[in-house]
Amino acid sequence: MTSASNTQLLTHATVATCASGASDAELIEDGAVLIENGEIRWVGTSVEATSEFAQCSLPTSSCSGRLLTPGLIDCHTHLVYGGDRSIEFEQRLMGKSYEEIARAGGGIVSSVQATRAASAHELMQTALHRLDALLASGVTTVEIKSGYGLDLDTEARCLTVARKLSEHRPISVATTYLGAHALPPEFTNDREGYVDFVVNQALPEIADRGLADAVDGFCEGIAFSTQEIARVFEKARALGIPIKLHAEQLSNLGGAKLAASFGALSADHLEYLDEEGVVAMAEGGTVAVLLPGAFYYLRETRKPPVTLLREHGVPIAIATDLNPGSSPVHSLIATMNMACVLFELTPNEVLRGVTVAAAQALGLRDRGQIKPGLRADLALWSTTAPVGLCYPLGHAPCQAVWFAGDLVRGQLP
Ligand code: NIG
Ligand code: FE
Repeated sequence: MTSASNTQLLTHATVATCASGASDAELIEDGAVLIENGEIRWVGTSVEATSEFAQCSLPTSSCSGRLLTPGLIDCHTHLVYGGDRSIEFEQRLMGKSYEEIARAGGGIVSSVQATRAASAHELMQTALHRLDALLASGVTTVEIKSGYGLDLDTEARCLTVARKLSEHRPISVATTYLGAHALPPEFTNDREGYVDFVVNQALPEIADRGLADAVDGFCEGIAFSTQEIARVFEKARALGIPIKLHAEQLSNLGGAKLAASFGALSADHLEYLDEEGVVAMAEGGTVAVLLPGAFYYLRETRKPPVTLLREHGVPIAIATDLNPGSSPVHSLIATMNMACVLFELTPNEVLRGVTVAAAQALGLRDRGQIKPGLRADLALWSTTAPVGLCYPLGHAPCQAVWFAGDLVRGQLP
């Protein structure tokens, strides 16, 4: 999708700039935004816009007081995969735990079998279907991880499909190589051999082909130890690729601290994170990505340490974790509600969590705020305050979306 060369002035909006400030959305009441050549050119009040642009006769649209936000960013998904794990959902309802299912050969490994069997075309069609659901939440940037192929061919196929999604829909895609997600069946008795493969073959090849913007791992008893993850991180550092980590989801292995010591962009999940880990994340500039969908589906009772994250000034992002196992959640807007209800975040924190903090979790500096010079990725909502995004469940009050300055969804009133 190409950027627009058009100019458009939006007036009479409640503009949530998400600019500076630790936890609020930095609202401009009766605000105005000038879009030009795919970028935000100017931000102010409608009164200022009237005097500033009086001579210019710009195409102007009134937003009738509605909330205008940056386009939303879903910074943690596993959107490209084959098959379905509804059977495991039923098993969990019957009392089996996520870990039990994984240790018995289900879980991630069962998605690996289905993903290896899927063609690029099948992966593309199913991914587009899921992506369409996300787009209804006003999402303009999505991160997509591999990790359901594990062998080089399938990982590369999934990452290629992920990259190509942006040729079919108005979306920016950030890709992440997640080779250290689970031990594939062919390496069942050779953990070290699989980590060798990730470090010495898969990661260099994927880097060489430009398929990954970041490298991720799953640090957990049912996945990889901190020592194994450290080997992957060292290689990623040598190749100059930023890192992220699934950490402290089911237990506290010190994954977030390890990730922070490598200057990770983010550590994700974090239900079992302790204060030492929080302090390390603050020092490392590592964003905490909270995933209430996985918490909800796994009926987890331990909450991430939100108060400590706030106290230590760790930015908090929110994402769907859209995946076939722990979080078949296809709505970022519903996830925002869950972040309020389950983790007691405020609507302002949640809005920052899917905009400015999510951009930081992806290392993207050109989006996530309404500021001159940034991409004109914007969403207009049929509500007048951030709480209106978090209050309904099962309804995305998204009225219009601009992607790099083009109106790609909905229309103005
Ligand atoms: O983010 N935690 C590990 N990985 C994914 C889920 C994988 C799966 O169950 O398929 C997650 O929850
Ligand atoms: Fe995940």
